Amino acid sequence: MSDQHASAELALGTTGIAKRGADAAESRAANRRWWDADADDYHAEHGGFLGAADFVWCPEGVREAEARFLGDVRGLRVLEVGCGSAPCARWLAGRGARAVALDLSAGMLRHARAANAGTGLDVPLVQASADQLPFRAGSFDAACSAFGGVPFVADVGEVFREVARVLRPGAPWVFSVTHPMRWIFPDDPGPGGLTVTQSYFDRTPYVEVDEAGSATYVEHHRTTGDYVRALVGAGLELLDLVEPEWPEGHTRKWGQWSPLRGQLFPGTAIFRTRKP
Ligand SMILES: C[S@@+](CC[C@H](N)C(=O)[O-])C[C@H]1O[C@@H](n2cnc3c(N)ncnc32)[C@H](O)[C@@H]1O
Repeated sequence: MSDQHASAELALGTTGIAKRGADAAESRAANRRWWDADADDYHAEHGGFLGAADFVWCPEGVREAEARFLGDVRGLRVLEVGCGSAPCARWLAGRGARAVALDLSAGMLRHARAANAGTGLDVPLVQASADQLPFRAGSFDAACSAFGGVPFVADVGEVFREVARVLRPGAPWVFSVTHPMRWIFPDDPGPGGLTVTQSYFDRTPYVEVDEAGSATYVEHHRTTGDYVRALVGAGLELLDLVEPEWPEGHTRKWGQWSPLRGQLFPGTAIFRTRKP
């Protein structure tokens, strides 16, 4: 819970934090409502940094234009998972990809529709959950996600199995998430965020609740080993794990991301994988 999200928390009646389990259905329902409620504030705060048709992987500012994790996308069918307002999918479309952008939240997709209209890059938008992809097997040549979906589902293996199913052989799946080691610290960009307060090995989800104890926001923690195991279990091949360093002179904070913390330990993990 934080001041940054005060209006979403007020709208959802969030009263506290519970450390307890949250299954797939509860995680989906809570996060759909949460992202609907936070969509306007999220874009008011981060829209300028993300751009309308730009592909930024993380708060450290790594851009696909330079990183080229997906390679040449011209003519490729590319799925973006957890697209938010879909700036990455529009960037891909601008480079000749046939991009499809998927998100759980109608509130986030409303921003995506407006940005499609504003840019003239009309990428198809799909409302669905990352662990229930409504596409035929082998229908994409690449898939990507910038902090979308993966931390919010109860079973990350189900996301990876779904992504593997909809990709054709040889296709890349690249996704960024909060670096697993950040879990041990409080979500504080200042000095308070430098002291360990919980175990890296405690996978109990972070759950915000309302007065009745119903979840209003759910985030699931996985260790680095959990990610690797789930990827391998889904039949994917791990090519690289990129831990972007905090760039010199980059002063912009994003939630718990800050120059102070970024100079000491990673904030983002970018997994580069492919379907063999
Ligand atoms: C931090 S935002 C990132 C959005 C976008 N990629 C960006 O960089 O701005 C997380 C996104 O994940 C979406 N999301 C949450 N749970 C999801 C799920 N189960 N399936 C698909 N998307 C989900 C949210 O609606 C939200 O748009």
